[in-house]
Amino acid sequence: MNKDNFNMPLIGFGTWKLPNSEETIEIVKNAIDSGYRLIDTAKAYGNETYIGRGIKASSIKREELFITGKLWNSDRDNVEEACLSTISKLDCDYLDLYLMHWPASKAVHEDWILINKRVWEQLEKLYDKGLVKAIGVCNFNKLQLEELLKTARIKPFVNQIEFHPGFRQEETLDFCFKNNILVEAWSPLGSGKLLKKKPLQDMALKYNKTPADICIAFSIQNNVIPIVKTRNKDRMISNLKAVEFKLSSEDLNNLNNLPYIGGSGLDSFTITIFD
Ligand SMILES: NC(=O)c1ccc[n+]([C@@H]2O[C@H](COP(=O)([O-])OP(=O)(O)OC[C@H]3O[C@@H](n4cnc5c(N)ncnc54)[C@H](OP(=O)(O)O)[C@@H]3O)[C@@H](O)[C@H]2O)c1
Repeated sequence: MNKDNFNMPLIGFGTWKLPNSEETIEIVKNAIDSGYRLIDTAKAYGNETYIGRGIKASSIKREELFITGKLWNSDRDNVEEACLSTISKLDCDYLDLYLMHWPASKAVHEDWILINKRVWEQLEKLYDKGLVKAIGVCNFNKLQLEELLKTARIKPFVNQIEFHPGFRQEETLDFCFKNNILVEAWSPLGSGKLLKKKPLQDMALKYNKTPADICIAFSIQNNVIPIVKTRNKDRMISNLKAVEFKLSSEDLNNLNNLPYIGGSGLDSFTITIFD
């Protein structure tokens, strides 16, 4: 996937819920050995140190990897310190992408626009200093992006949003594409729960593929980079292979028009649990 001269792998490896223990070293090493080059991390996942050790355990050179970190909400007033801590824990010298994990919620902060603007200015400074090669956001809807763009000196390179069959966040997606902002899909398999849903099982049967393959192809064919998580080596490989598989335009259209069949239920505008 590419935006001007900024290139990203077509698929990423997710690390949410990987344990904060030695086990994660092997999982991350397996992911990189299987062929993943984008590793999506976050301070909030509480496992950065073991992910860093997994990255080191692989034989792939740092410059061939694309490492993403995320700024947690409680670090809005010490952005550089938080970023340096992430780089140190991941032991990776710099980040390829640093994302604001959540916008300030309107339900919690009257001054949400100002908070997002100030955090973004701090991210811009990290970019200027070369600590991070790109900066972006997660979970920003159209209005939140519009407000941010009014004062941003550097446009977000990426918006990472929940995206899967039945939940395309079309308004946000269209806004990102029109503004040359790359989109990443979090929970592209609906955290695994979507894989049991009939429309996906039926489609999988039709193509002799798995429901996970269908979700991954759905994301790629919508020009959205899926960030897929699995602990299992065989599933790492099959998920990666799904990048090559294509749904017919008719089936893609059917999936694009699927009504909501489940998701996280989180809405960054009204959320109160993270602040
Ligand atoms: N920015 C944000 O706010 C945000 C929020 C949520 C997530 N994320 C990122 O997005 C990543 C992915 O989201 P996610 O972790 O919610 O879930 P996901 O990738 O949608 O689904 C992962 C689940 O599906 C299972 N799975 C994976 N491949 C499978 C396959 N081929 N067949 C059957 N089951 C399969 C996994 O189980 P096994 O491990 O047992 O295979 C796991 O339970 C996260 O890890 C994180 O990096 C970001």
